[in-house]
Amino acid sequence: MENYKNLGFKVQDTNGNYISYYKDGKWDEGKIQKEDTITISAFSTALHYGQQAFEGLKAFRTKEGKIHIFRPDENAKRLQRSCEKILMPKISEEKFLDAIKQVVKANEDLIPPYGHGASLYLRPYVIGVGRNLGVKPAPEYIFGVLCSPVGSYFKGGLEPVKFTVTDRDRAAPNGTGDVKVGGNYAASLLSHQKAVEQGYADCIYLDPLTHTKIDEVGAANFFAITKDNKFVTPVSSSILPSITKKSLIHIAQNYLDMEVEIRDANINNLDEFKEAGACGTAAAITPIGRIDYHGNKHVFYSETEVGPITKKLYDTLTGIYYGDVKAPDGWIMVIE
Ligand code: PLP
Ligand code: COI
Repeated sequence: MENYKNLGFKVQDTNGNYISYYKDGKWDEGKIQKEDTITISAFSTALHYGQQAFEGLKAFRTKEGKIHIFRPDENAKRLQRSCEKILMPKISEEKFLDAIKQVVKANEDLIPPYGHGASLYLRPYVIGVGRNLGVKPAPEYIFGVLCSPVGSYFKGGLEPVKFTVTDRDRAAPNGTGDVKVGGNYAASLLSHQKAVEQGYADCIYLDPLTHTKIDEVGAANFFAITKDNKFVTPVSSSILPSITKKSLIHIAQNYLDMEVEIRDANINNLDEFKEAGACGTAAAITPIGRIDYHGNKHVFYSETEVGPITKKLYDTLTGIYYGDVKAPDGWIMVIE
């Protein structure tokens, strides 16, 4: 695995993954297993009724060779909210962090070295398992953490990419869009495939109620910079509350001295923005070069170059990831 630049975002062989079982109302100790296979009843609710949730976070190698995990406590809390919403037993923050540590330690040699923009992606998941037929919560559960070394999610890292806007929805106004459950992603597959077939990186989802405001950029949140240098990002009941976005709000205010507006971004008023981007764990920050909507091609800063403010946000965020920029207290879990 020498060519870190071309790692992309896919499954690579690893040394092992974590697995823990929930039976009779409690979680077992959990352990590291080698194979990334599990044996479950084909009647499991995860397979039929989408009773499952997942997370995504990353481990980074610093210049000094330390291992940094970015805000894992936030992922633990979001997984608890996801579990709560679809009636799965919660994982305590302590158990979640212990599982992350065990997986990172078991795969320490697979964390890409500093300086390649690569990392070890961690994929916690919770699934409902056991023999069940009716639409009701599963009798048993599995909590696991998988991992894979990854590079850029969208091609090119900091190279701007173009997005189309879909007329379909990934989530409902009072549905599950604000938690990280598989059904939202199943609902996005067709729109994603159609966007890619047409030469786009992915598609933008509008708010499902009025179809006028930007909700999500594929599997990432949206942010934009106004002509007077304000950082704008929307929040709604159908948007997944991104930990990267929450971090960028803090970075914009406290590191770059920018004003932040948490408000809607109307798809018919993109002219108010001079830069725009997608943000998320997998995507980090990906500049949006162009959005095509109903025949209108809207170019932001440039279709080929990242804008200066997006670049500053990216440099600060990735600087914090890799230990080159001082992180706010509590953002980094260091694994010795
Ligand atoms: N929106 C969706 C739909 C996602 O799947 C993700 C990825 O986790 C995000 C946004 C970004 O969230 P985060 O920054 O917490 O990774
Ligand atoms: C992430 O950014 O961690 C994601 O989960 C996005 C996508 C790969 C589902």
